[in-house]
Amino acid sequence: MKTDPHTAKETAKRRTFAIISHPDAGKTTLTEKLLLFGGAIQQAGAVKSRKTERKATSDFLSIEQERGISVSSSVMKFNYKGFEINLLDTPGHKDFSEDTYRVLTAVDCAVMIIDSARGVEPQTRKLMEVCRMRNTPIITFINKLDREGMEPLDLFADIEEKLQIECTPITWPIGMGKRFRGVYHLDTKQLGLFSPGYSPRDGDGVVIDNLDDPILDRELGEQARELRDDVDLIQGAADPFDMDYYLKGSQTPVFFGSAINNFGVREMLDSFVQMAPPPGVRQTLTREVKPEEPGFSGFTFKIQANMDPAHRDRIAFFRICSGKFKRGMKVRHHRIGKDVIISNATIFMAQERSNVDEAFPGDIIGIHNHGTIKIGDTFTEKEELKFTGIPSFAPEHFRRVILKNPMKTKALQKGLTQLAEEGTIQVFRPRINNDYIMGAVGVLQFDVTMARLKAEYGVDAGSEPVDLSVARWITCDNEEMKKKFINQNAGSIAVDSEGWVAFLTTSEYQLGFAMEAWPDIQFHKTREYN
Ligand code: G4P
Repeated sequence: MKTDPHTAKETAKRRTFAIISHPDAGKTTLTEKLLLFGGAIQQAGAVKSRKTERKATSDFLSIEQERGISVSSSVMKFNYKGFEINLLDTPGHKDFSEDTYRVLTAVDCAVMIIDSARGVEPQTRKLMEVCRMRNTPIITFINKLDREGMEPLDLFADIEEKLQIECTPITWPIGMGKRFRGVYHLDTKQLGLFSPGYSPRDGDGVVIDNLDDPILDRELGEQARELRDDVDLIQGAADPFDMDYYLKGSQTPVFFGSAINNFGVREMLDSFVQMAPPPGVRQTLTREVKPEEPGFSGFTFKIQANMDPAHRDRIAFFRICSGKFKRGMKVRHHRIGKDVIISNATIFMAQERSNVDEAFPGDIIGIHNHGTIKIGDTFTEKEELKFTGIPSFAPEHFRRVILKNPMKTKALQKGLTQLAEEGTIQVFRPRINNDYIMGAVGVLQFDVTMARLKAEYGVDAGSEPVDLSVARWITCDNEEMKKKFINQNAGSIAVDSEGWVAFLTTSEYQLGFAMEAWPDIQFHKTREYN
């Protein structure tokens, strides 16, 4: 059965994406320009640079506590040329990359920003690996053409080699740095001419019939010839755009520009709404869910606490996968097997949030949460389903919790359990003692955990280093073998907050040793939320 025509029409208009980049490539700047085009903000500077997050823990924590900023910018909804666009923000700091990975599970495509002088950087590489897990289509924006950078074809080679994705140019830059004159759209044959601070509107840009047009010489002088030569070269050498290939995540259309100068951004956005796929099919444990199915369904990919310091509220960010959300609707919360009425869900606009009456596949709604919703939870209207593909990553840093007041053991336990459910930290209980071992992908997560334990649970706790650096979740088809492994390695076995058994050890070397000795045991670097 298919959904009603209104829902189908609304779904077809949705484009849900995130921007992936290495810090400083220009994510904040590009976001702001996109929101300006979408009319979601009125002036530059409205999206605060969250650079301070990256500078120091104290800055980060005070910012976290101030909140407000990240509330409005977690999901930014705007409208452009009849499309409803949901831009999901990802934390800038690498220590919160786990959060970013999970946000990427909720999008249908991504825009990758590359700094033209730096090429592919480490964080981009990691994020790309995550996109690849789901074959997320990627559109590339090469930024900072107003500065001297690498040659475009060298950038292509760098992307192709490091990210294993084929590049196909949609726009082409005319010069760079001091000689940057603009971009030429290879498809529409529009020539956008650059002047710093340029604010393009629809229809701006010179349209030329062909590259021999004398307008080109008039506007570009000697650089006209360079452009002709470049276009000649790439039309012969570059792979043509192939929609199927791109939708599979094997090819990326590339745009050039300068976000800070608002240049090349409109060209990218115009193509983005055409190229970015509408909400797609999602996998559950039992079957695929299509967005056009009438029954409402979706999953939680992020939980954010303290969005409003006055009320200790928590918001579960929920991606709608099928059907229509209506305010006050009854849905089934599958993990706990209960029906709940969602009376006050929130939709996020660029600078505010408001109550939502209805929402459609591709939309992200915020559900108020009193500690019952976990990352990965599925809600549906009727059918028993469980969406898959929301990962947890093996931590790389570990610390033992030191409780200063033993009377607070219960509060500590509750706090750690809830923070683990929100994905703030991972918590392991060793088999051989009563310790709480925290595991994190980035060390800032420890500071945030300690600060939140104190502020929200009244627990004054510290932490100390432990001699651990590797964790792997273990499974085995043979229960007896698993028991034997656990017994013989009791000192290295711990159970995480969801009951998964993990092997914790001091080094990759030790892990290799265990893997060799126990070939029937599977050691997993990621696991799914229950
Ligand atoms: P991020 O969110 O990816 O970390 O990057 P952000 O947008 O904050 O940009 C990082 C720096 O790069 C900023 O400069 C920003 O102004 C600059 N930038 C962004 N786009 C362009 C561009 O097209 N050309 C040039 N030349 N620079 C660009 P900053 O000096 O570090 O910070 P700020 O003081 O300007 O905020």
